[in-house]
Amino acid sequence: MHGISRTTTDIRRAAMLASVVLVGHAGCHLDHSQSVLHTASQPAAEIAHLWWILLAVCGIVSLIVLGLLAFAVFSPQHSQQKRAPVGVRFIIVCGAIIPAVILVCLLIASVRTQVALSPPESSLTIRIVGHQFWWQVEYPEYNIDTANELYIPVDEPVRIELVSADVIHSFWVPSLQGKTDLLPDKVNVTWLSADRPGIYRGQCAEYCGVQHAWMAFNVIAVSRDEFDRWIAGCQQPTPQPKTESQRRGQELFVAEKCHNCHRIRGLPEAIGNRGPDLTHIASRKSLGAGLIPNNRGNLMGWISNPQALKPGNRMPATYLDSDELRALTDYLQTLK
Ligand code: CUA
Repeated sequence: MHGISRTTTDIRRAAMLASVVLVGHAGCHLDHSQSVLHTASQPAAEIAHLWWILLAVCGIVSLIVLGLLAFAVFSPQHSQQKRAPVGVRFIIVCGAIIPAVILVCLLIASVRTQVALSPPESSLTIRIVGHQFWWQVEYPEYNIDTANELYIPVDEPVRIELVSADVIHSFWVPSLQGKTDLLPDKVNVTWLSADRPGIYRGQCAEYCGVQHAWMAFNVIAVSRDEFDRWIAGCQQPTPQPKTESQRRGQELFVAEKCHNCHRIRGLPEAIGNRGPDLTHIASRKSLGAGLIPNNRGNLMGWISNPQALKPGNRMPATYLDSDELRALTDYLQTLK
């Protein structure tokens, strides 16, 4: 009997230790690409600064309130009939005046942050259309239409126009900027800038359906030269298929009705706009809005059964034999 309870205690201790280690590990995760506290822009730094102020003030207030509560619960009972005026004064000062002062100070800090976040002048505009469950990314000045990736030049504020094609989504890049909603009937505006080159992960922050969690994107901040090269690359016409397999893949793209939902500039039949523009699909880093890395195997898996990888997304399965699947993949991989 004694042995059993000792074993139970040991298991409980081990479980507690494991959970502490796990929580600690989660808190210390080294990938800071989507962290409010690892900022890479002035607006994100302002937000993080406000977050620390709120944490400190609210933490101190909570400790004081809990201390007073403990005092009230555990202190020996004083005579209850004698309600001294000191008690009333204590309630007025600590229950009304001090909280009012604290709340006004926090309001001032919040308004100050809000003012610091107002958009500056910018020479580049990106238009984002939210879809269930991916991001359409347009550069209107350059006639570029892509998906789930925003290239921006470092140290330049970029105007971001946001609208939704269906339900409400929310555009959030924690390391760079606060959240802004995408509404179906109104264009909202925010802005982004990055202090240093890097890949910053963004995420839809408004529940929008079954694959809300896999509605991610990357902001890729690069030097101005690299950004100009990327723009020039995007404006290149798509290469014509060279091999027999690539040619067959291009035919299959139309025969299998992929062109009803996807656009490929340079392929006249492919003018669909329900799914991502595939003109430069091969140069994107991920598939399925941040779901899986973009490589040959994953692309084949995605084409053959997207519902297995991301249930509830809008793309139906295709019924191709292995040769056809290989040919279609060969063609799509030429679209750099
Ligand atoms: Cu889109 Cu959540």
